[in-house]
Amino acid sequence: TERKVAVLVGSLRKGSFSRKLAHALTELAPKNLHFSFVEIGDLPLYNEDLEADVPAAWARLRREIKGAEAVMFVTPEYNRSVPASIKNALDVGSRPYGQSVWDGKPALVVSGSGGGIGGFGANHHLRQSLVFLNMPVLQQPEAYIGGFNDLFDDQGKVKNEGTQGFLSKIMQAYGDWVAKILG
Ligand code: FNR
Repeated sequence: TERKVAVLVGSLRKGSFSRKLAHALTELAPKNLHFSFVEIGDLPLYNEDLEADVPAAWARLRREIKGAEAVMFVTPEYNRSVPASIKNALDVGSRPYGQSVWDGKPALVVSGSGGGIGGFGANHHLRQSLVFLNMPVLQQPEAYIGGFNDLFDDQGKVKNEGTQGFLSKIMQAYGDWVAKILG
């Protein structure tokens, strides 16, 4: 069975390495996963007053996540935590109370950074919110991608075979696990 996976990227800039990484991951993924990118850069900051007249971008995000069966997060680390764009998307999708669009969806968290720590802080802060949102998260292999500013060629392909193998392994594990969870 083909499973619909929403992809959220935690960087909004055009040349984002996280976005390149997300595309590379979708290309290396097994065939049972079908991906669609969900944009989060246009979401007004969460403000409960706006629920009276829901912003179009919020409605779109909620609809797109509702239509997905699983969610893949690919994010850089901002100040040892998760970028505000991702946190805001989680907040927007979690409300109104009792109508969270995230509930129960199996997630993959991939973090990346130019440095050596691979976005560990972002990865685990994101996991903290996903516990409360009742999203099971793939535990192994963990995906902290260091040095991601040097990973891609001009076509956005992963240059290094070892890294390509590792990314494939992550996606295979996610595909198998999603199939098991969703049945
Ligand atoms: C960063 N960067 C960064 N890197 C890191 O390893 N740990 C960190 O805590 C931070 N903090 C941070 C804060 C802010 C506001 C910015 C803009 C950047 C550097 C970051 O990893 C680098 O800019 C990446 O290239 C961002 O990912 P994208 O935009 O290429 O996907």
